[in-house]
Amino acid sequence: MVNQDNQGLQENRVFAPPAEFVANAAISGMDAYNKLCAEAAGDYEGFWARLARENLDWHKPFTSTLDESEAPFYKWFADGELNVSYNCLDRNLKNGNAGKTAIIFEADDGKVTRATYQELYEKVCKFANGLKSRGIKKGDRVVIYMPMSIEGVAAMQACARIGATHSVVFGGFSAKSLQERIIDAGAVAVITADEQMRGGKHLPLKTIVDEALALGGCTTMKDVIVYKRTGGNIPFVEGRDTWLHDLVDAQPAECEPEWVGAEHPLFILYTSGSTGTPKGVQHSSGGYLLWAALTMKWTFDLKPNDVFWCTADIGWVTGHTYIAYGPLAVGGTEIVFEGVPTYPNAGRFWETIDKHKVSIFYTAPTAIRSLIKAADVDPKVHPKNYDLSSLRLLGSVGEPINPEAWMWYYKNVGREKCPIVDTFWQTETGGHMITPLPGATPMVPGSCTLPLPGIMTAIVDEAGQDVPNGQGGILVVKRPWPSMIRTIWGNPDRFKTSYFPEELGGRMYLAGDGAIRNKETGYFTITGRIDDVLNVSGHRMGTMEIESALVANPIVAEAAVVGKPDDTTGESICAFVVLKQARPTGEEAKKLALELRNWVAKEIGPIAKPKEIRFGDNLPKTRSGKIMRRLLRVLAKGETITQDVSTLENPAILEQLKEAS
Ligand code: PRX
Repeated sequence: MVNQDNQGLQENRVFAPPAEFVANAAISGMDAYNKLCAEAAGDYEGFWARLARENLDWHKPFTSTLDESEAPFYKWFADGELNVSYNCLDRNLKNGNAGKTAIIFEADDGKVTRATYQELYEKVCKFANGLKSRGIKKGDRVVIYMPMSIEGVAAMQACARIGATHSVVFGGFSAKSLQERIIDAGAVAVITADEQMRGGKHLPLKTIVDEALALGGCTTMKDVIVYKRTGGNIPFVEGRDTWLHDLVDAQPAECEPEWVGAEHPLFILYTSGSTGTPKGVQHSSGGYLLWAALTMKWTFDLKPNDVFWCTADIGWVTGHTYIAYGPLAVGGTEIVFEGVPTYPNAGRFWETIDKHKVSIFYTAPTAIRSLIKAADVDPKVHPKNYDLSSLRLLGSVGEPINPEAWMWYYKNVGREKCPIVDTFWQTETGGHMITPLPGATPMVPGSCTLPLPGIMTAIVDEAGQDVPNGQGGILVVKRPWPSMIRTIWGNPDRFKTSYFPEELGGRMYLAGDGAIRNKETGYFTITGRIDDVLNVSGHRMGTMEIESALVANPIVAEAAVVGKPDDTTGESICAFVVLKQARPTGEEAKKLALELRNWVAKEIGPIAKPKEIRFGDNLPKTRSGKIMRRLLRVLAKGETITQDVSTLENPAILEQLKEAS
């Protein structure tokens, strides 16, 4: 530790990686990192071709590495053939890992179930044969709406095995969100469970699928496959619904993988953009898997004896890359966790680390911040009360980690001996982009430090020109990389305009985040989204989606949604609402705010519920009728407006919107 100054971007405490870690790391020391970067800079395609040959098993070797002929629709390893599930399962049986534990499942109630690679292989093969028996085949889309479970991972792997493209929908999304995704993907089947368990509560899944399908329009849908998780009472539709066990139990435990081209879409995952409905981010098979496997080795430095735990849900990209694919592609042992961090108490994470001797722990800053608060309230759940000596590496993902939370994590969870990898990436990037390497990069709290070798990130101005270090700008990636988004499902034009805008020349990937590089070190710090995307507890949401949900309510005339900084969730949702009736106040306002919050939960899902709703007679608008969101952001924060408001049609409204109704 060299300096105590920790004011925001001025943070310059530096933590060197522990010597023992450096000695044994996959990328050991900055020289090794720089050497890989130089290799990529020298022969970009050769670098990626070498890694793809070394890290994946190809059924048919590729001869073309990067095809830019239809840029920005880049193709990687396009004439090569492989199967993702083969690489995650069969390859491990061949490598002597058949008896090794692949998954340790920790249920909500603490019950543990394990699957070896052999068992997981058989489960996936039976599952794949079951899907085939329903006529599901290569190229079909299958929606997965499952709780965290070995079956959830197996469902994804089974789709990959037969070449069906999965689209996992997070179990917290509403019937309407699910229906929209089923329709957009043109899915032929939904794999779900009767119910899910969270914090001791039974939550419905199958009935939400029924509701989604009852909303209509899911014309391609034929099958609903139901995993019996709780045995709760659920209705069955004859001919359409099948129990998973009835479908798979009698199937053979072998299933020849479907060999697919490297560009074959492994999955579509919906995520929020600044405008319109959620975008179906389409990922490839070869390039995606390469990066999932390689980042497990580089960023997480995974070794054969590690027990890896990523606390994300398989409904998010983190759960795809670092639960369903990455750990298995490198023969790791991983925890799949069904529960929540605060049940039965806020010591659950620490207790689980101790129970399973977890060595690599990967979670979100929101979880860390809420556990800091919980430990302040109840010292019994402070991590110091648990044996965390098995830990050797910590990770953070999904949102910026503030230096205070970083320090707490470092001291109290990592006991000052575990490096922290603050991994910056996105649904669209498929895997880590900018992150410290645990055996090389000196760490600075709150900075994701440097890009991984081969990832050509830069900071530019609005004309696409590089800005000097120390000056903030727009984060871009200047060269295509193997695990990048291939297109937006069904909307290639939106792919081009969202990610490769003409203003930046049409060839630079626009991440949608602002960033700044430190003058001396060149380290990156992400300064937040530059578009109308919010990040609440590491979950991504478009302001427009929430506004659309609000105005869909018959009593709402207009709504504007902005993000507000929040100590625990990073950002929270603040909605300014104009009703068709007179502006409510007092108890009436409270009642209607509650009603609207529940309405949004029903329309999108509980994660999209505004934390705060303020009612006004109007919204601040320019004379041309444009809502001035930047003023709303200032009001939401409770700050005084210092900006010029002379272009406002109705400046008096600001006073009314200053405080909650
Ligand atoms: O704003 C960045 C933030 O999360 C966004 C991506 O969200 P999503 O696609 O849901 O993927 C989350 C999991 C990879 C980014 O545009 N973000 C993600 N990781 C970090 C981050 N912001 C700062 N630091 C990070 N480590």
